[in-house]
Amino acid sequence: MRPSARRSEAVELTFLPGLADVLSDEASELLLTSGPPTPVRGRDDALEIALLGPLASVAQLRTAVAAFVVLRFDVPRPKSLTSGDHLQRIVDAIGSSMRVGRSASFRFEAAGSDSAVFQRLAALLAEATGLAYDETGGELVLRVRRGVEPRPSGDPGWDVLVRVGNRPLSARPWRVADYPGAANATIAAAMVRLGGVVPTDRVLNLMCGSGTLLVERLVAGPAAEAVGVDLAPDAVVASSDNLAAAGVRAQILHGDALAAVPGSFDLVLADPPWGTLHGSHESNAALHAGLLRAAYEAAAPGARLVVLTHEIKVMEQAVRDADALWRLRDQVRVFAKGHHPRIWVLDRT
Ligand SMILES: C[S@@+](CC[C@H](N)C(=O)[O-])C[C@H]1O[C@@H](n2cnc3c(N)ncnc32)[C@H](O)[C@@H]1O
Repeated sequence: MRPSARRSEAVELTFLPGLADVLSDEASELLLTSGPPTPVRGRDDALEIALLGPLASVAQLRTAVAAFVVLRFDVPRPKSLTSGDHLQRIVDAIGSSMRVGRSASFRFEAAGSDSAVFQRLAALLAEATGLAYDETGGELVLRVRRGVEPRPSGDPGWDVLVRVGNRPLSARPWRVADYPGAANATIAAAMVRLGGVVPTDRVLNLMCGSGTLLVERLVAGPAAEAVGVDLAPDAVVASSDNLAAAGVRAQILHGDALAAVPGSFDLVLADPPWGTLHGSHESNAALHAGLLRAAYEAAAPGARLVVLTHEIKVMEQAVRDADALWRLRDQVRVFAKGHHPRIWVLDRT
């Protein structure tokens, strides 16, 4: 069947606020859709796509937090969802989600999910799907909310969103080693896209910690060379373990990233320490300035540097001071769990 003759499926993609454009580009590039992604009304963390390709194709997205099949019901209250046809649509969407990632249980994310109506809906869904209802720990997530699109009746109706797969897309199977201060994988993936994925690139990750940026770069496409550097011995172990779990290879050096790193690199990635977790606010001015200098020394002509940092003022000053070394191309603010880090994309002068 030609794609244009196929019926599309409404899918909502959630993301960390600030990454809408990056995710929109990624979705347009990787997924077969009818039209571009559109913002979800009243939300700063969700885009909707009309998916023409298989539902499993959304699992390729690396900058999305999660994907949900969107079911719209022209009903006045959630109680109506328990009736035959409506219930069957939800059961079918659960079946589609399970084909992408099998769950053993489900839960609701909805206002009033402990009410008798939701308990009844849970019992009917459990019976129809064979999944256990686990109010707090259920793997498959069903969001039930007031409709967000206007309807001819004037009543917004109700939406049921069925999450695709048993884990959010942002949960990475390769993360076998936990590391304090590890970068969020969807932000790391966004940094990789902003820096550009070129197969001939020699890639350097300064202060690599557990290797999130390196792994996300290497799973996005091949590279001619990949090197990570960190002072902490446990970072060397953690990044080696994560790289191995991801099935990608990089050389991890134990040492000071501000000292000369041997080689000549086309893409340099870094998320320097912030707050009290690694380093201190005072020492971070010197560290950010040192990072820009060290990255310049290690960078080939025309190289790109992508830095994620929470130290906004410190980085702004460091970038101003390093204007002979790096030209600012782009800045992206991200909102993640109460933190507001920023991504800087710089080109070597
Ligand atoms: C925010 S963490 C990086 C987290 C990493 N992206 C991840 O996902 O796990 C910052 C890292 O910088 C390292 N670091 C701090 N100063 C350094 C230096 N001068 N040279 C090398 N590594 C350094 C710390 O050991 C820490 O692992």
